[in-house]
Amino acid sequence: MDFPYSLIIMLRQLISAEPPSILIVVNQKNRSHALIQQSGVYTVNVLSAGQESLAAHFASGPASPFASVAHTYGTNRCPIINGCTSYLECVVAAQTAFGTHSIFLGRVIASGERDDVPLLYHDGQFRSLAQTG
Ligand SMILES: Cc1cc2nc3c(=O)[nH]c(=O)nc-3n(C[C@H](O)[C@H](O)[C@H](O)COP(=O)(O)O)c2cc1C
Repeated sequence: MDFPYSLIIMLRQLISAEPPSILIVVNQKNRSHALIQQSGVYTVNVLSAGQESLAAHFASGPASPFASVAHTYGTNRCPIINGCTSYLECVVAAQTAFGTHSIFLGRVIASGERDDVPLLYHDGQFRSLAQTG
């Protein structure tokens, strides 16, 4: 079974290089929360600077998030978005609730990257890194 859900997140943090681990913080009201909890897996897709419209699409909570989005599936059966700058496939190693949100600590089981500029969100707007040199 594949897990075709998505969530635009702002907070993610590299926890440990060995074993490679990353955490995400998810609102318990979001659909993704129950899906991550049930499946025990998630993938972090880092969108590229040209994918701002995709970020807005996923943040709007569409009924079928991936119906119109080109993607493949990773080894953890979560979507990898075509054109993202990098992705981290995770298996949930620990979860803790705090207030309205849950922290999911994921062990990275696979990853990939390509040479592109990531999409950033700062001061209420999507932005891209200024390129120098
Ligand atoms: C820039 C940005 C950052 C966001 N960061 C988070 C986040 O860290 N955690 C979270 O739960 N929602 C975050 N959201 C909100 C979710 O993307 C939004 O609630 C989404 O509709 C949830 O989809 P779902 O219900 O299908 O999971 C963010 C939205 C934006 C635009």
